[in-house]
Amino acid sequence: MTEPSKKRVLSGIQPSGNLTIGNYLGALLHWVEDQDLYENYFCVVDLHAITLPQDPQELRQKTREVSALYMAAGLDPQKATIFIQSHIPAHAELAWILTCLSPLGWLNRMTQFKDKAAKQQADSVSAGLLNYPVLMAADILLYQAHGVPVGDDQRQHLELTRDLAQRFNHIYGETFVIPEALIPRAGARVMGLDDPLSKMSKSTAGDYHAVYLLDPPNAARKKIMRATTDSGREIRFSTLPEKAGVNNLLTIYQALTHDSNEAIEASFEGKGYGDLKKAVAEVVIAALEPLQRRYHQLLDEEGYLEQVLADGAERAATLAEKTLKEVKDRVGFLAPAHRWPVNRDC
Ligand code: TRP
Repeated sequence: MTEPSKKRVLSGIQPSGNLTIGNYLGALLHWVEDQDLYENYFCVVDLHAITLPQDPQELRQKTREVSALYMAAGLDPQKATIFIQSHIPAHAELAWILTCLSPLGWLNRMTQFKDKAAKQQADSVSAGLLNYPVLMAADILLYQAHGVPVGDDQRQHLELTRDLAQRFNHIYGETFVIPEALIPRAGARVMGLDDPLSKMSKSTAGDYHAVYLLDPPNAARKKIMRATTDSGREIRFSTLPEKAGVNNLLTIYQALTHDSNEAIEASFEGKGYGDLKKAVAEVVIAALEPLQRRYHQLLDEEGYLEQVLADGAERAATLAEKTLKEVKDRVGFLAPAHRWPVNRDC
């Protein structure tokens, strides 16, 4: 019996700010859980990070940190190609070609762009920020990924990726696989602990906004105990805005325990918000402890991370260059001539 070939997935996280339990529960954990089902490509998207100003030293440090966290969270470099986006020039090249196929109207409609742009002076918003989703489309399409495991907030970017792939295929002939978003049921959208109506973000300021993956247990506990709830006492999953805080704590709890809504609600029957917070803190700390241990072990092993990233870049380049070559050919770029064997006669 031949095993049907596995579908390919690709995803990435920006090396800006500190990874949060939102990144873990909305993305990383699912990459890890499903790594035997797919052929896996996971990159650290440093080209995306510079759409907002970054300190060069810090960007380099965060790029190592995020790649190490991929493995600490459980990605196995034997099963997953782990690489740095800027190590593969094809990302920027394909992004340019797709930029030329992107109507401004599509890009101006992206809610993430509108949110980020609204925080800056209109005239100084960089074209990079506007083109951010086109670069993301290039990341995905270069590897002919079938699935893109991401958090709920990336749905619209995935739609744009599909639209661009379809547009290219329509104009130049079948080239790209049309990818699908793989959005987890539980934990897809972890909200800010201090503001449960907005997504938990690694770039939002505030000491009590997010639990970071590298937070010591006491810091994690303190943040969860301080989480915003409401003046009621009902511990139930709910979509009501006033119950968003409690719902968020239950969501985090569920993503880590995998219990059903009913079982979780039943287990908190007759208990208070303080009990809920303690229980959430315990499961979060229990998940972070082994992750942090592996993280430190990994960085202690001199040269190991570099080796993984070099192997990853080599594997990623093979696939990316193949797609890019085909794209350039279809677009009509003249293939570079090689001196040999043309010059053979001289
Ligand atoms: N935009 C994604 C995010 O903020 C990060 C990202 C960049 C990405 N390129 C990607 C995710 C390709 C999936 C696939 O979460």
